[in-house]
Amino acid sequence: MSVPKVITVSAVSGEFSPLISEFVESLKKFSIQAKKTEKKGWIQLVRNTAYHNPEEYRLTVSAVGIIVEAGCANGCFYGLQSALQLINGTGTGGSLPCAVIGDAPRYGWRGLMLDESRHFVGKAEVKKLLDLMAFHKLNKFHWHLTDSQGWRIEIKRYPLLTSVGAIGNLTDPDAPAQYYTQAEIAEIVQYAADRFIEVIPEIDMPGHATSAIKAYPEFSGGGSKQYPNFTFNPGKEGTYTFLTNILKEIIALFPSRYIHIGGDEVHFGNEQWNHLPEIRELMKAQGLEGLVTVEHYFLNRISDSIRVLNKTVIGWDEVVTAGLPVSNTMVMWWRQERPEQLEKAINKGYEIVLCPRLPLYLDFVQHSSHKYGRKWSKGGEYAPIEKVYHFPSMDYTSGISISTPLIKGIQGNIWTETIHTPERLQFMIFPRLSALAEAAWTQDKSKNYENFNMRMDKMMEVYKKIGIVFFNYKDPESSPEVAGPEKKKRD
Ligand code: ACM
Repeated sequence: MSVPKVITVSAVSGEFSPLISEFVESLKKFSIQAKKTEKKGWIQLVRNTAYHNPEEYRLTVSAVGIIVEAGCANGCFYGLQSALQLINGTGTGGSLPCAVIGDAPRYGWRGLMLDESRHFVGKAEVKKLLDLMAFHKLNKFHWHLTDSQGWRIEIKRYPLLTSVGAIGNLTDPDAPAQYYTQAEIAEIVQYAADRFIEVIPEIDMPGHATSAIKAYPEFSGGGSKQYPNFTFNPGKEGTYTFLTNILKEIIALFPSRYIHIGGDEVHFGNEQWNHLPEIRELMKAQGLEGLVTVEHYFLNRISDSIRVLNKTVIGWDEVVTAGLPVSNTMVMWWRQERPEQLEKAINKGYEIVLCPRLPLYLDFVQHSSHKYGRKWSKGGEYAPIEKVYHFPSMDYTSGISISTPLIKGIQGNIWTETIHTPERLQFMIFPRLSALAEAAWTQDKSKNYENFNMRMDKMMEVYKKIGIVFFNYKDPESSPEVAGPEKKKRD
């Protein structure tokens, strides 16, 4: 059946009607003409209560058009994305084969994390990324908004967090303050919600806190030579009041059930905890032995505050030994060289998102010839598209079975130490985002790399059409590496 020059879309079921204008706009971004109609459209949206999974849909291509059926708006939205992909693959005037596609995701958590502390990309680029996440049916945007190099979110009660803490980035510590106002955050959260993407903020603590401490030095727990003023001070009551007040403003801005509190790499800069009298007193009073127990005390205090505010904590995999309540904590497993952290998380019953550095950190390079970006320090391993596609087979989890309902999904993470421009950001994300999306959506038995690889020819045409910078992994010389900053890297 041939694709008309102007695609008409109608909602047979009124509750799907609000999806149409956004879909028509997204078609325009792909240079496809479309409009909403009250008559019978070439694409028709139908509510079918037989579909219980809110993200499930059925798409029927017949001789007269396309019908998208779903039980919920999420599923209908994904059916429309599949229609868009089919139309993109064929082009208007092209011919679509009749088909019925019944589809539902493998994982409920299909995430992407962006670090805007090391380098800030800003609203326009984030919206572009959200558009492309939606196109790929990804549904969780984890936003790393604070770290040592810059605090990127306005907190009205503590204005110095942005007037002082947002100054600088990894390549230029004196760069003018860059951050999101609360109005901009609200706008982006709504933009994401319109695309069925939940935004999960991360406020990293008790480490990675240098930018906050630059603004409010009274809450410093010190640092190390390499990471000065790296931690918040767990021995001062004021620290908990300060952080809880921040979290209250964060919670008011983000409707997500989750707040990510980091909890990673505290040992990079907590050696002064041994020498601060208030922390020694805390240890005595609470019977804490050693710095890890102090870290755990801190995490439990913050977790309690978040539970009282009716939200669920997410932490990096360091938190699995902190004794946080299973019913109110999710763990992100990021250290592939520490499979025992994953095993402990499963054994303790935590909900888990898998995002191991290899192969899901998209700031690792994607080709052996690439010089910027990370490679694993031992052996130079990196993250080519094929490895992203094959995730999460047991090879990537050191043989630990991930066939437990505790595994909620997978996520690609983009740290920006080596990514300082929108062009480089896109180059590192694409085309691996397409592989990540398929890894998150598709059951193992339906995955087929050869088939995916073939379909990527069309997808790379689509990237070109919408002006995305990407790495053509099939012809590396046609897409030279977009250079990163000449500054330091990490493991
Ligand atoms: C991390 O990469 N430090 C979670």
